[in-house]
Amino acid sequence: MVTWDDIIKFRNASHVPIVLKGVQCKEDVVKAMKLGLGGVVISNHGGRQLDYAQSSIEVLADTVKYCHEQGLTLDKSKFSIFVDGGFRSGSDIVKALCLGASGVGLGRPFLYSMASYGQPGVEKAIQILKTEIEEEFKLLGVCSVDELNESFVDLSLLKLKTASVSYSEFDRNYVPLPQPQFYR
Ligand SMILES: Cc1cc2nc3c(=O)[nH]c(=O)nc-3n(C[C@H](O)[C@H](O)[C@H](O)COP(=O)(O)O)c2cc1C
Repeated sequence: MVTWDDIIKFRNASHVPIVLKGVQCKEDVVKAMKLGLGGVVISNHGGRQLDYAQSSIEVLADTVKYCHEQGLTLDKSKFSIFVDGGFRSGSDIVKALCLGASGVGLGRPFLYSMASYGQPGVEKAIQILKTEIEEEFKLLGVCSVDELNESFVDLSLLKLKTASVSYSEFDRNYVPLPQPQFYR
C-alpha cells in the first residue's frame, strides 16, 4: 500500500511535479498541497471501486468550502486540482471549473465513443463537449475560464442523490452518427 511517506519519497526524488490521483477527501487534498505536491486528481476511479463513495464533484465542493474555512488560498499556479468521475456534459465540466478545478477528466465517454465509432466517434464526442461548453459560457456571459467562479453554481442540491435533472443540452447538440457498416 502506498503511504504518505512514500509520496514524500517520490516528491523528493522527482524533478517533475507529482500529481496524486484518486484523492477522495478534502483533508487529503489539503495535505497534498501542504506537502508541496504539484496537484491532485480528485477521483473515485469512476465509481468503480467502492459503492456509495462520494462523487468527485462533491469532494471538490467540500474541498473549496474546507479551504475557505481554514483560511487557505488555492493558488492554481502552484497546486492544480484536477477532477474526474461521472462528468458527462459541458455543463458538468463548467461546474467543476467554477469550483476551481484546473482540469476535468472524462474516461468512459471517450472509451464508449472509441468502441462504438472509432476515431470519428471520439472526435464527435470532443465536438459535442466543445459546443456544450461554448453554450454554457454564452449563457453565463463569460469569455474565459478565468472569469468563472463559485457564484455560478448552486450547490444546495448536491447532496440530494435522488435529484433528476433533464439533459437538455445533450438532446439539443447530439446528432447520431451513422451506424457502422456491419450493423446494416
Ligand atoms: C475500464 C477502466 C479501467 C480503469 N483503470 C484504472 C486504473 O487502472 N487506475 C486508475 O487510477 N483509474 C482507472 N480507471 C478510472 C479512470 O482513470 C478515471 O478515473 C475514470 O474513468 C473517470 O470516470 P468516468 O469514466 O466516469 O469519466 C479506469 C476506468 C475504466 C473505465
